[in-house]
Amino acid sequence: MYKLVCLAILTTAFVVVAAVNYDRTEIHGYHFHTYFFQKDDDSTQEAREFRQEIQRQIEDGLLANCRLNRFNMDPVGPHPVGSFETCCNKTSLSQSLSWFMQNRGNLTIFLHPLTTEEILDHTVRSSFLGSPFKLKISALETTLAAVDLCLPLTTSNDV
Ligand SMILES: *[C@@H]1O[C@H](CO)[C@@H](O)[C@H](O)[C@H]1NC(C)=O
Ligand SMILES: *[C@@H]1O[C@H](CO)[C@@H](O)[C@H](O)[C@H]1NC(C)=O
Repeated sequence: MYKLVCLAILTTAFVVVAAVNYDRTEIHGYHFHTYFFQKDDDSTQEAREFRQEIQRQIEDGLLANCRLNRFNMDPVGPHPVGSFETCCNKTSLSQSLSWFMQNRGNLTIFLHPLTTEEILDHTVRSSFLGSPFKLKISALETTLAAVDLCLPLTTSNDV
């Protein structure tokens, strides 16, 4: 039993180390966090419709290098209001940024790059489309173990 546990730990460690074969300081992609006022029905509805439009654009190919994450009706992590994340690979930044600029309506978009330097990514390297919000930086780590590579999510990301 003890040997099995050791083997499992060693295998896990190997897989984790083997998976990190990318540059940890390079920008691999971007998060577009759409913010809405979760206690305001109009704002929440606009965000839900905007998310459905993003899903359509992903399926139609304009945002093919992006994937959606779930709809958060409460503040989560550093995000001070309701939000949902769209993760886009760096290859499609110009296209996805143009699309968000033109289609965000009344919603604020918080845009930040994806490296392992989480606090830098969410502060000096970030920007807002629309009115800025104050983030809860204490919810972030200076250095992450891995970069978010916009891989398909294993948990359900349905609205
Ligand atoms: C982003 O790129 C990675 C490879 O670097 C790929 O595995 C992943 O599927 C891509 N994500 C999307 C949403 O296109
Ligand atoms: C933005 O807000 C205005 C004023 O509340 C509203 O008339 C408009 O429909 C909103 N835009 C979208 C895309 O929902």
